[in-house]
Amino acid sequence: MKAIAIRRHGGPEVLEAIDVELPPPAEREVRVRHTAIGLNYSDINVRNGGFYLGDGPNFPVILGNEAAGVVEAVGVGVRDFAPGDRVAYAGSGGLFFVNTGAYAEQRNMPADCLVKLPDDISEETAAALLLKGLTAAVVIHHCYTPKPGDKILIHAAASGVGSLLAQWCAHLGATVIGTVGSRAKAAFAREHGCSHTILYREEDFVAAVKKLAPEGVAAVLDGVGKDTFIPSFDLLRPFGAAVNYGNASGNVPPFNLMLLAQKGCIALHRPGFGFYANTGPARQAACDELFELVRQGALRVEIGSRWPLKDAALAHEEAERGRNVGSVLLMPTQP
Ligand SMILES: NC(=O)c1ccc[n+]([C@@H]2O[C@H](COP(=O)([O-])OP(=O)(O)OC[C@H]3O[C@@H](n4cnc5c(N)ncnc54)[C@H](OP(=O)(O)O)[C@@H]3O)[C@@H](O)[C@H]2O)c1
Repeated sequence: MKAIAIRRHGGPEVLEAIDVELPPPAEREVRVRHTAIGLNYSDINVRNGGFYLGDGPNFPVILGNEAAGVVEAVGVGVRDFAPGDRVAYAGSGGLFFVNTGAYAEQRNMPADCLVKLPDDISEETAAALLLKGLTAAVVIHHCYTPKPGDKILIHAAASGVGSLLAQWCAHLGATVIGTVGSRAKAAFAREHGCSHTILYREEDFVAAVKKLAPEGVAAVLDGVGKDTFIPSFDLLRPFGAAVNYGNASGNVPPFNLMLLAQKGCIALHRPGFGFYANTGPARQAACDELFELVRQGALRVEIGSRWPLKDAALAHEEAERGRNVGSVLLMPTQP
């Protein structure tokens, strides 16, 4: 079967198609034929070689943490899945650069990492939703749960995670202020949870948020990192929450801890989805919560673009330039 791998770190050009001989699923493994693969910004980070804690990977590395598809075969000891089941996964526990391998036509996954898809959730929706939605869930359940009347600042509010967070916060009764990189993204963000949008590459977002929330925002939810996180501390209300969940513009630089005392006590969070609900029944329950929010219309999962798996390099180029809205899918060739 075909997969997309890297043999070294670098730009999109290091992505190459390789042939892989997939062994039969081992004990407690399930072979999944992927029908839709989620592209995540973390795939770009792994490709570039950034953000490792400790040693880097052993090449070649097949990228990807998220996919949906159909069970083809099960290994010994698998009781909860059978051939023909529709399933999806987001990560396999742990950090995002460990055990990647979703950019492939098929994959053997630990059964414990899979969730079953209900009839009303398509494989495309699952691949577009799971990893980004579970990231939003960690933020909402473990970092800051918005209350009715709260004002929340969300950076890159038209992004995959950002647009889900904006909708979820609005669903909980908060007023969402979103920063975005273009007018088209502003329109998208306003259709997906934001009451106000700020073109943060054209105007000073700090001044703009101060006008919209002179009393300060309850929380800032930030997947941009270097360019936005520290300046956002000044926008929080006393005892507000500063949540950095991503580094699209680069790592947040080191800062003086005293900055957190300027508003009484800023609560600082740096969540990672890989440790959230990452065992079988908890994982299924966390995903079922997302499916229910989709069912209720609280979360609309938008697929901004679909690319053939073989064109993963083009998809990376577009995402890295910040050109996408919502989620991006890679589509394997079907037999
Ligand atoms: N902690 C976790 O477990 C976890 C899980 C998933 C994702 N993440 C992280 O969350 C962030 C967002 O992920 P996503 O999937 O929502 O990404 P995405 O949909 O690809 O959106 C990323 C957006 O970031 C903005 N951006 C700002 N500065 C940028 C720069 N220098 N280069 C490129 N883009 C820039 C762009 O939006 P504008 O044009 O509006 O500025 C871009 O569209 C990423 O850093 C990702 O690694 C973390």
